[in-house]
Amino acid sequence: MSINAGFHKLKIAEVRRETPDAVSIRFEIPEPLKQVFAFRAGQHLTLRTDLDGEDVRRNYSVCVAPSENEIRIAIKQMIPGRFSAWANANLREGQVVDVLPAMGRFVAPENTRDHAYYVALAGGSGITPVISILKTVLETQPTARCVLLYGNRNTASVMFLEELAGLKNRYMDRLELYHFLEDEAEEIELFNGRLDRQKCEAVFDSLVDVKSADAVFICGPGPMMDAAEAALLARGVPADRILIERFTSSVLSAEQLAAREALQQKAAGTELLVTLDGRRSRVAFDPARGNILESVQAAGLPAPYACKGGVCTTCRAKILEGQVTMAKNYGLTDEEVAAGYVLTCQSLPATDRVVLSYDE
Ligand code: FES
Repeated sequence: MSINAGFHKLKIAEVRRETPDAVSIRFEIPEPLKQVFAFRAGQHLTLRTDLDGEDVRRNYSVCVAPSENEIRIAIKQMIPGRFSAWANANLREGQVVDVLPAMGRFVAPENTRDHAYYVALAGGSGITPVISILKTVLETQPTARCVLLYGNRNTASVMFLEELAGLKNRYMDRLELYHFLEDEAEEIELFNGRLDRQKCEAVFDSLVDVKSADAVFICGPGPMMDAAEAALLARGVPADRILIERFTSSVLSAEQLAAREALQQKAAGTELLVTLDGRRSRVAFDPARGNILESVQAAGLPAPYACKGGVCTTCRAKILEGQVTMAKNYGLTDEEVAAGYVLTCQSLPATDRVVLSYDE
């Protein structure tokens, strides 16, 4: 079995420039794969390519609603951004790309109350899953109201500027849209500057009643998400109403790294009994590989992964026997952790024997 298990080769139907440093990409989905690539608003796809002989994978959110009958993602060129720079410069209509079906729990709520109220905070390309969610909620929940707070450097860098204005026109009474620009001065001071903690507090004081929100969606740069989350929690918004979509994870401190290295050494040779695609294999944990996922892959098993940063949950497995320690977890819910699920890219064995399954 190839290491590309789960990936499908999809042809690019259209590459559309959204801003000077971002493109959106529409894929052609052949009829037999329509069901496989069904998605919920807010989910992401994983793309992979070989760059200088290295298998590089990244997650990109879908920016359309399921009702639009197309699947389109947006890729903004990041700095540094190996994959995003390659994609912005090279992807063309007709090219074929390896793509994993949609995943993710940052999704539009279903079966909610009448007159539900949603708040979204987006920064830069963080608008991608958010616009998918807003379009879906406004369309499928006729009494729902939404507020979008969207931060960018300047007008030229605002992704989906016209589409958002169109949404605002279409749902005049149900969508409030506020842009915050760092490098351009607005007449109203509140809309100048970035969405940091102070700005969030000012906005929540004067513009948005976050305490009555049924859900708050946050996606953007790390500091923005941390600031928004802290401001919401400080105002008593329950944590389970705050949904955050991260695409990168924080770096471990020197102390955390040293502690982790000690655990890796201690776990050397631990027996891992791994079930993947219905087959059970025996793997010895290799401290030089750093985590369970890498040891499993080094043994030739095509365990799934994308970010390797504790964010995307692609590498999720269930511990059936024994214990592991996880370094970072931005993706699994408390319920999943309680049920025994772990992110194998973040896990080290903590017992002499660990039995786990990628199939559960
Ligand atoms: S590969 Fe993304 S969380 Fe492990």
